Amino acid sequence: MDDLKAKYLGQIADAGDENTLEAIRVAAVGKKGEVALKMRELGKMTPEERQVAGPALNALKDEINSALSAKKAALADAALDERLRTEWLDVTLPTRPRGQGSVHPISQATEELTAIFAELGFSVAEGPRIEDDWYNFDALNIPGHHPARAEMDTFYMHRAEGDNRPPHVLRTHTSPVQIRSMEKQGAPIRVICPGGVYRADYDQTHTPMFHQVEGLAIDKDISMANLKWVLEEFVKAFFEVDDVELRFRASHFPFTEPSAEVDIRCSWDNGQLKIGEGDDWMEILGSGMVHPKVIAAGGIDPEVYQGFAFGIGIDRLAMLKYGIPDLRAFFDSDLRWLRHYGFAALDMPNLHGGLSR
Ligand code: PHE
Repeated sequence: MDDLKAKYLGQIADAGDENTLEAIRVAAVGKKGEVALKMRELGKMTPEERQVAGPALNALKDEINSALSAKKAALADAALDERLRTEWLDVTLPTRPRGQGSVHPISQATEELTAIFAELGFSVAEGPRIEDDWYNFDALNIPGHHPARAEMDTFYMHRAEGDNRPPHVLRTHTSPVQIRSMEKQGAPIRVICPGGVYRADYDQTHTPMFHQVEGLAIDKDISMANLKWVLEEFVKAFFEVDDVELRFRASHFPFTEPSAEVDIRCSWDNGQLKIGEGDDWMEILGSGMVHPKVIAAGGIDPEVYQGFAFGIGIDRLAMLKYGIPDLRAFFDSDLRWLRHYGFAALDMPNLHGGLSR
């Protein structure tokens, strides 16, 4: 027994890694290990012999086991020390240069406009991209036969044959979040709802998936004048200029009355897109006073409350602000494009520090 002890404790002390240690464990105290074999011999002994040999074997087994676990812990410590020695990191070094990963212009624009509307007292609300057609259409005063359903080139979700429930759609605008916000928080409300929307459309300024930010303000005394002021303040802050030229055009949306579309003055010379100059206008948003039927659909009393809503194309804003002529490039995932137009990941846009330095 003393030989066994000396042999295994010696091997354990010399073991240089966990695999060796495990092999020693199996050979010594495993089910068919040497100590187990010795234990089997107990049966052939006289009771007196057994009384001495039994406890001694158990003690040997315990001793080997604890030597194993002590060595295992020591090996783990040594491995950790080795990692700490080789994988150290100098946290006082400057961060990596730009271009190692950057913020997409759409994310950047979304952060910027969120910062601006936060300053104006709007909080952020969100809704699902796969939307119930009631939220996307009916609740917004767009009944089944309404031409707006066709005009929007809606993507309908597949329904199993025989499933007669109303269809789900990929939301065609962020306006359904108006209804969801009204249902959820009641009046008064001041929210913006940024997010992706979908329409079957594809050219230089249209992609099947794009981004909008909805705005909704509901209270007892909100007017069209408030809407106009908020939009003007927003556009000036977003483009970081003292004035940009906006054109409010009377328009029609089923969910607002009256309605206005807003265009921004721009030029497209030589494929370069610039804001604030030139003879072109780019439509950037739709807006108006929320239709009483829509307020009622949201569960709020339209006799008491009124408000404005708007829907802005985020991608359009980003194109204009950063001079990106083709919307489709936003979604190509071309790394060279992303490195060129991307933003430093650690600069959080805010109105005091600057939006897009
Ligand atoms: N939902 C409209 C669109 O996608 C925009 C809009 C929002 C218009 C809110 C008025 C009020 O075109």
